[in-house]
Amino acid sequence: MAGRVVVSGAKNAALPELAAVCLSPGTVEFSNVPLVEDIKVMFAALREIGAEGEMSGHDIRVAMPLLRSPLVSRQTTQTTRASILLLGPMLARHGLARVAMPGGCPIGERKIDFHLQGLERMGAEIRTDGEYLSARCARLRGIEFEFPGKTVTGTENLLMAAALADGTTVLRNCALEPEVTDLVALLGEMGADISSPAEGTFVVGGRTSLHGAVHRIIPDRIEAGTYLIAGCFAGNDILVDDVVPEHLQSLLDILAGMGAEIAVSGQAFHVRGGAPLAPAHVVTEPYPGFPTDLQAQLTTLLTQANGVSSVRETIFNDRFRHVGELNRLGADIEVRGDAALVRGGSRLRGTVLKTTDLRASAALVLGGLAAEGETRIENSYQLFRGYENMPEKLQKLGAEITIIAE
Ligand code: EPZ
Repeated sequence: MAGRVVVSGAKNAALPELAAVCLSPGTVEFSNVPLVEDIKVMFAALREIGAEGEMSGHDIRVAMPLLRSPLVSRQTTQTTRASILLLGPMLARHGLARVAMPGGCPIGERKIDFHLQGLERMGAEIRTDGEYLSARCARLRGIEFEFPGKTVTGTENLLMAAALADGTTVLRNCALEPEVTDLVALLGEMGADISSPAEGTFVVGGRTSLHGAVHRIIPDRIEAGTYLIAGCFAGNDILVDDVVPEHLQSLLDILAGMGAEIAVSGQAFHVRGGAPLAPAHVVTEPYPGFPTDLQAQLTTLLTQANGVSSVRETIFNDRFRHVGELNRLGADIEVRGDAALVRGGSRLRGTVLKTTDLRASAALVLGGLAAEGETRIENSYQLFRGYENMPEKLQKLGAEITIIAE
């Protein structure tokens, strides 16, 4: 593959930012919105509860003058668990929310207890019947809260709730993923009072109301990382454009350590495959560590390294489902507890694969491209949840890839 690929806006920034629309009656104008299924579902959920607006290409103009219904249906939450992000803002502005328990990718236990603990401490009464979470409150009140563990959407939910709470909220041990930082920027643009006196701490002065804003969503670092990894396979020469290089420092360090040929220039990566790749020992961690959302894709690349690599997954407890499928392609990977041992140098051969989650799908696409012969990936709709036009972007680079059915 050769040529230039332009990275879309970040799905995991756009999701909480759409939820933030609930916090104000004002119009929020987003640009660089990724055209992916999870965003379409979230936008539909917003409209279900009362938002008015439209999507036009990569722009969304949307406002929530009134909450028409406090119900976020099962249909929405089954597809994207980001629907839980509506809980904090709906409670903060309307005092009422009924959200079906979230579904999403099967990658292990995905608890929401820290979200609920925080909101209860702020004065919300939350009940669950196993299927729905029902929550109500008078005005939420400011609290001091230390997250017992790092959570991305938990941090985002409580930041949004605190923006309209009565008094000051201090949140400690917060996640610091670039998507959290971008949400903080949007909330500031909407009139919220948020500062960060120390790393991992946010202080939020509650306001009585917020207003509309104009916001450009950051580039998707996981999509960028996926194409960067793709470029490291033999025979490829790719310019990955519209990236924020520092968002991917952990991946750049790993790839440099493996001997990959990468040049960073401004907002682009130029990557050339073919250099002999050394094995790597990788551990997933909260940002700025190596992201769990790139673990599967990097594992595919490690099947081509000269030697034995290890990949330890510390964020989710069942995120190695791609391993069995990669082995069916000819990889030699063994899962031992929370780690995968990847014996590199495998000759991959095309076959029929089945994918289980979004990032695993991308890993299998990379495997299929590197394999001899044809690979058919079933369940590939997963890919479209989070990668805008991946087949078209790869075709433009010269890959032979066709969608048979989504
Ligand atoms: C976000 O999920 C992302 N989703 C995920 O992206 C990403 O994999 C994950 O963060 C980690 O980076 C969105 O931003 C919409 P967490 P989230 O809460 O917020 C435990 C993708 O492919 N935990 O940070 O749901 C939890 O069980 C995806 O785009 C609790 O114990 O993840 C997990 O082990 C999939 N209690 C760990 O923390 C809680 O209340 C990290 O989860 C919350 C989380």
